[in-house]
Amino acid sequence: MTARLSGKTALITGGSRGIGRAIAEAFAAEDCALVLNARDAVRLGETAEAIAQHYGVSVTPLPCDVTDGAAVRDMVARAEAVAPLDILVNNAGIHIPNRFTDYSFDDFRAVMESNVYSVFHVTQAVLPGMIERARGRVINLASTAGKWGSRNQSAYNASKHAVVGLTRCLGLEMAPHNVLVNAICPWIVDTDMATGFMQRHAAVTGVSAEELAARMNQGVPLGRWIEPREVAGLAVYLASDEASYINGQAWAVDGGYTMI
Ligand SMILES: NC(=O)c1ccc[n+]([C@@H]2O[C@H](COP(=O)([O-])OP(=O)(O)OC[C@H]3O[C@@H](n4cnc5c(N)ncnc54)[C@H](OP(=O)(O)O)[C@@H]3O)[C@@H](O)[C@H]2O)c1
Repeated sequence: MTARLSGKTALITGGSRGIGRAIAEAFAAEDCALVLNARDAVRLGETAEAIAQHYGVSVTPLPCDVTDGAAVRDMVARAEAVAPLDILVNNAGIHIPNRFTDYSFDDFRAVMESNVYSVFHVTQAVLPGMIERARGRVINLASTAGKWGSRNQSAYNASKHAVVGLTRCLGLEMAPHNVLVNAICPWIVDTDMATGFMQRHAAVTGVSAEELAARMNQGVPLGRWIEPREVAGLAVYLASDEASYINGQAWAVDGGYTMI
């Protein structure tokens, strides 16, 4: 069977660990060449090296902070010099929980800059090439937090609602160019981010992280957190030729938590 992403090149932001790394590995297993981004150049280089060795695909690490528009434009120019980008995965993001009344504006703004304005910078730099070639896929990591409200994390939910809204608008604007834009909306995925935000939630609420996790798991039909690879499979599908008529959607990966 032919690999599903042979001959394609993908840029994945936040590709050094967590969901981004799982997507990178799943793409590599489908013979996709990779350009990986994150801020920590050492960690990124280690991930790139490990994936290239294991899967035998080209992996180019391009570290930069995706909240920095000029650095992003430079990164995308360097990526396009390696190979035209067929797929963009906007995955980099952060989570800073707090009660709304206690948020500092700096924390609220940091979440918006990392989760929304980064998507603006990277996508605006990548789209001209995709438009010129009349083909492309953009996959945005949103969250179930982009579909509903949650206590004590309004910055994160606001940012992910913005990502879902941007996905829908770009789905409309890019369709005539054969560039398809979709979002993935996972519930809690077992990564550094999840461990970190449970500890922050515990500090805000005074309930232990273990107790909070147990309460949250009671609400989800599958009763457990998601493994990063369980998100990556959907990203492969959305990047593949099989998804050629899927556009402007916000796909829940939530074990049946939402059924709308
Ligand atoms: N984990 C969850 O429960 C969950 C659920 C739904 C959606 N999501 C979303 O899925 C995405 C990935 O989450 P994750 O859980 O895998 O997070 P993670 O484990 O914290 O990993 C985040 C990745 O993004 C990079 N990154 C963060 N800020 C960056 C910046 N400004 N510029 C460049 N790279 C940056 C990190 O590397 P450096 O620190 O080296 O930069 C790392 O590679 C995020 O958008 C998140 O909101 C996560």
